[in-house]
Parts: sequence; structure tokens; C-alpha cells
Amino acid sequence: MTIFSVHSTIFSRASVVLLSSNGFKRFSFASSFSSTAVYSPRLPKVKKQRRYPIVSAVDIGGVTIARNDVVKDDDPTNNVPDSIFSKLGMQLHRRNKHPIGILKSAIYNYFDSNYAKKFEKFEDLSPIVTTKQNFDDVLVPADHVSRSLNDTYYVDPQTVLRCHTSAHQAELLRKGHSRFLVTGDVYRRDSIDSTHYPVFHQMEGFCVFSPEDWNDSGMDPTLYAAEDLKKCLEGLARHLFGSVEMRWVDTYFPFTNPSFELEIYFKEDWLEVLGCGVTEQVILKQSGLENKVAWAFGLGLERLAMVLFDIPDIRLFWSSDERFTSQFGKGELGVKFKPYSKYPPCYKDISFWISDAFTENNFCEVVRGIAGDLVEEVKLIDQFTNKKGMTSHCYRIVFRSMERSLTDEEVNDLQSKVRVEVEKKLNVELR
Ligand code: PHE
Repeated sequence: MTIFSVHSTIFSRASVVLLSSNGFKRFSFASSFSSTAVYSPRLPKVKKQRRYPIVSAVDIGGVTIARNDVVKDDDPTNNVPDSIFSKLGMQLHRRNKHPIGILKSAIYNYFDSNYAKKFEKFEDLSPIVTTKQNFDDVLVPADHVSRSLNDTYYVDPQTVLRCHTSAHQAELLRKGHSRFLVTGDVYRRDSIDSTHYPVFHQMEGFCVFSPEDWNDSGMDPTLYAAEDLKKCLEGLARHLFGSVEMRWVDTYFPFTNPSFELEIYFKEDWLEVLGCGVTEQVILKQSGLENKVAWAFGLGLERLAMVLFDIPDIRLFWSSDERFTSQFGKGELGVKFKPYSKYPPCYKDISFWISDAFTENNFCEVVRGIAGDLVEEVKLIDQFTNKKGMTSHCYRIVFRSMERSLTDEEVNDLQSKVRVEVEKKLNVELR
């Protein structure tokens, strides 16, 4: 049985409100080698075997960014590891034979052929942004979880790796742009499984309307924008998917009201692929746009590409294995990925008493730091609190390479390194 529904597209308007107890929903969806990364000619003398190359500098839009400006081992507010720094210049969305680049072009085509008034495209804006751009400008409250060190990569207290392309909305509006698409790599600390990777790609869409646009419709401007937005994204979804099953879900974003999410049925589950809504008036006013309304959307390119190209694991997007890269060609949207083989997984469990400061994201970062893309999943399989009030967690780590079979020795070695590092860095007590 295929996982895709053969029914015609369902755009249900079902209203399921997804608010967490504090009323804030983390905007969550909703991830080779770099031609632009500059590799250090001499690797630092580290005896540890690393799963990723040490990169000394990256090039973003012609600007060279040095490692030491982004990875600061001695600064407690800096939580950017080398594995993340090395992704900064990669810009998978700008490779025209890569699924992410192919998908980006297909979305561009939809906008170019359906809108007489062109959308401007930005795809080379630096992912290193200020907290003002990433949070304040788009009205993210001071106590919102997304601002925490647990969720976002901080370079310093005022600088982050953007966690969404919405970070560019206000600056582009202030510069006078009113219809645009922004594509870029975004960064989020997260758990590990086949659909989550700490770097992924988003496309932001933004469209401003003036009174002459909605006056004739006789509609309330907010309603006018919401209807236009849904029509636009339904058309886009049909352009990309034809007949996949979908549904709209009401949600919350700090920067839009009303806000919606579009979900797609994938692998027997509903997968969130985009967030959108009518832009909060304050954002328009702050950018000098009185008497206007606007809509915005942000979509996760990996999520969509996994469905479109049948890509089973998000790590594959980063593979330089020819058996992956050679399967996709410029402009070819219909291609389905043929798995070259599935190598056996290896499961290892680790149990420890956690400390108050323990978080699963921190644990996952340690595991990724050691095993890189050899880790497929980390899941909590048991937890309990004893009479003394100590809490124990047991995690199952699934190791699996997408390119070869792992040896027992190699996996044991990774696991023992994980044990050492977890104890050292996370202040937990191994059991
Ligand atoms: N920035 C949101 C996210 O990353 C998506 C979004 C963009 C939602 C624009 C509404 C409007 O989850």
C-alpha cells in the first residue's frame, strides 16, 4: 500500500487549535561538501576522529566568515558547534540539481506564472542575524521559548543563527519591498529523527495589499488577505503535489493573526509543511506601511521535498554520495528517489540520572557532535523518579549509515564516546 492518498486533494478547513498551555506555540516544522566552504589547510591537532570536516571559514554571499567569529568555545552564551558552522555556506537551495534547489525553482515557477505582479526573490541573505531581526521585529514575546539557548543557536547575546526566514520580513519591508520570496538555511536545536535536522531550508513569502486591491471586493481587508493567502497556497500545493491529502489547521504565530498551518498526509501521519497568516498590523506600521494589509507564509523545503521525491531520511539531503546526488536533475520535479540500499541499524541504550539543567536538545547535540550523520534517531524509552526525587532517563540511540554497514567496533566506540561526553558536558550521572 502506498502512503499517498489517491483521493483528490482535501483542503479541509477544520479548526483544530494548537496552543500549548502557555498559549505560545513554538513555530515548529516546521534539512557533500560545500563548494564555497574554505577548508582549513592544516587541521588542528585533535586526536578524536570527527564525523565532519573542521571548517575554518565559510563564504556567504561573497563575505568570508571566520570560524572563530561564530564558534566561541569559551563564551557561555555561544552554543554553535563546529558541525553547525560547517553548514553555514552550503546553501543547498542554490544547487539546481539538488532536490531542495529543484523544489525552490518549482515554487518560483508557480509564482512567476500565476502572478502578473512579480515577487522579488532573495536567496543569499546571511543566516547570521540579530536577535532584533529574528525575534523583536516579528513581535516574538520576550519570554517565548524559541528565544532560549535550548532552542536557538546563539553566537552572542545579540546575534543568532536565524531560526526562520521571517527574520528578514521587517528589514525588506523597510527597504520598500512589498512582494517577495526569501529562501535560506535556518537553524534550530532539536531532537533527532528522520524528519528533524538542526539545519533546514525555508522559503518565506510576503505580499502587501493596498486599499485599491480590496475595495472592489467589498470585503474586510483581513479577510481579503486571508482568502487570497489560502487560494495562493492551495494553488501552490496543487502545482507541486497534485493529489496528496492535506488539511488546514488554525494555529498561533506571534507575527500573524489569524494564523494557519498546512499539513500533508505522509508516512501514515500528518506532516506540518508550512505556517502562514495575515501579518500583524504593528509590523506593517513599524515599517511605515499604514493602511495596508499583508499575508506571509514560511514553508519548510525539506518537508515538502521528502514527500515529493520520496526521500525517507532528512540526512540524505546532506549526502555527497553519488548514488544520491546523481538521481536528481535540474527542473525534474517528478523523480522518485530509489534507495540504493538500507544498511542495518544498530541500537544502543544509555541511562543516566539527569540534573535540573538537563534538556533533550542538549543531549542530542552531544550525540550529533560525536556521531554526526551516523545517528538516525534518539528516543526516550524510559523515565522514572525514585524516592529520593532523582529522575532517570533511558535513551535509545539508533546508529545507521546511509552509505555503508557500520561495524560493531565502530558503534561501540561511538557509544563509549557518547557516554564520556554526556557525563562531562551535561552534568548527569551514568547508571
Ligand atoms: N516563521 C514561521 C516558522 O518558522 C512560519 C511563518 C512564516 C508563519 C510567515 C507565518 C507567517 O514556523
